[in-house]
Amino acid sequence: MTKRKITKSKIKKEKTDYKSKTDKHILKEIIRVDHAGEYGATRIYDGQIAVFGKNSKIGKIIQHMADQEQEHIETFEKLIIQHRVRPTALLPLWNIAGFALGATTALMGEKAAMACTVSVEKVIGDHYKQQASLLGNDQKKLKSTIKKFEKDELEHHDIGIAHDAKKTPGYNFLSKVISLGCKTAITVSKKI
Ligand SMILES: [Fe+2]
Ligand SMILES: [Fe+2]
Repeated sequence: MTKRKITKSKIKKEKTDYKSKTDKHILKEIIRVDHAGEYGATRIYDGQIAVFGKNSKIGKIIQHMADQEQEHIETFEKLIIQHRVRPTALLPLWNIAGFALGATTALMGEKAAMACTVSVEKVIGDHYKQQASLLGNDQKKLKSTIKKFEKDELEHHDIGIAHDAKKTPGYNFLSKVISLGCKTAITVSKKI
């Protein structure tokens, strides 16, 4: 009977330990990919602002989102150092691809720029949501940071919707292409 009790409590303790500790490898992947994603996001908005100008009506709306992305990337730059994570080797690619995506959609018009925001922010917001469940009790601070950023990304998504993103001609196609591009970028940035 005693033996049985010990075994049960041991199992319970092991389960608690498992929950409280984040897998180191997963933690590094999370920081690497989020750093890459936030960097890409800053470059997308840079590209859009370069086309619209930051003093235009749409430019000011985009600047609000860009300011939040700046806060996000600065947070992950600190986390990269703190946790000694190697940044993705693909940053130079995301630098160019992000800016090009932002500038191209902006050149297609204000609605297309917002369609880009909706697609990108949806993928990033969902990705943050998934990550929160991978973090254990030893990473409470990071978990709350991720939850806060998830909220910001969903706000950006909603700003895009409110600015007629879905009225972009060919919205469904454009949205699918951008989402697929983002998901691919996430997959490769975790590893490379
Ligand atoms: Fe962000
Ligand atoms: Fe965002």
